[in-house]
Amino acid sequence: MGFLDGQAAIVTGAAVGLGNQYAKALAAEGCNVAICDVRADVLDVGRELAAMGVESLAFIADVSRPEDVRRVVDGAVAKWGRIDTLINNAGVWRGSMPADDLDKSLEDYEILIGTNLKGVYLFGRAVIPHLIASGRGGNIINIASDHIHTHPGRPTGGGPAMDLYDVSKWAINGLTVPWSKALKPHGIRVNGFTMGATDSYMLRSFHQFKAPPEVVANWMTAEEVCDLAIQLIREGPGGRTGENIPAWLGFEVELAPQPAAKPAWLAG
Ligand SMILES: NC(=O)c1ccc[n+]([C@@H]2O[C@H](COP(=O)([O-])OP(=O)(O)OC[C@H]3O[C@@H](n4cnc5c(N)ncnc54)[C@H](O)[C@@H]3O)[C@@H](O)[C@H]2O)c1
Repeated sequence: MGFLDGQAAIVTGAAVGLGNQYAKALAAEGCNVAICDVRADVLDVGRELAAMGVESLAFIADVSRPEDVRRVVDGAVAKWGRIDTLINNAGVWRGSMPADDLDKSLEDYEILIGTNLKGVYLFGRAVIPHLIASGRGGNIINIASDHIHTHPGRPTGGGPAMDLYDVSKWAINGLTVPWSKALKPHGIRVNGFTMGATDSYMLRSFHQFKAPPEVVANWMTAEEVCDLAIQLIREGPGGRTGENIPAWLGFEVELAPQPAAKPAWLAG
């Protein structure tokens, strides 16, 4: 059916938005997919994936809770005996400001850092031993944001109510880069995604689900951005690792060509 026939992937935060589309793009390539989300309608998405002709597992699970993370990863390993790809996608946004009171700030910290950073950390820790043990290599894609890696001429960072969201996304570099180095000998590639405004439940919610068509037309589509993940996986064991892959508004949504391999005498 596709180049991922017989492989298995985990996508977090797949009930709606981009996670939903990553899961479908993987399934379209024949990959069995385990998904999780705090939303109960993730179970419907599991059935949609199965209707595409692959095997699926769907879990109501919170990525910030270690016991939920174990349940998802152990479930996927028990069913397929392998995990080849992890897409650490689950994410939340809420406004946070430097002068917020301490109670709100603590709640924001638990929610934003818990989901956007701790979730990525826990899923990585739970999945990586299986990726290593398989000896087949694999892929981890950590979803960050164009706030941390944007096009020349535009400053990094989001708006004034974004301090904790941006912390959570910048901090992902502290996982992506060391993981890519540590896991390279095992053929496991680890990259970040740094996309700008992409049509999703989250983005539509910022417009109270009433964004006019001319506004939506400016956004990237989930299909365009998720196809980048498929292209990245398709590069195979020799593909790029340790990079932040951009998808920026106003630019072609495509993988930049990989730099030519250095000759051995220059590779150091
Ligand atoms: N859409 C964009 O423009 C955009 C831009 C840059 C980065 N991102 C990032 O892409 C990812 C997906 O964003 P989206 O726009 O599709 O958002 P979305 O809100 O449409 O979808 C996010 C999904 O994650 C789930 N989720 C939230 N908290 C969770 C938790 N603790 N455990 C499990 N699931 C949880 C939600 O229920 C939802 O199904 C996020 O990490 C977001 O920060 C999105």
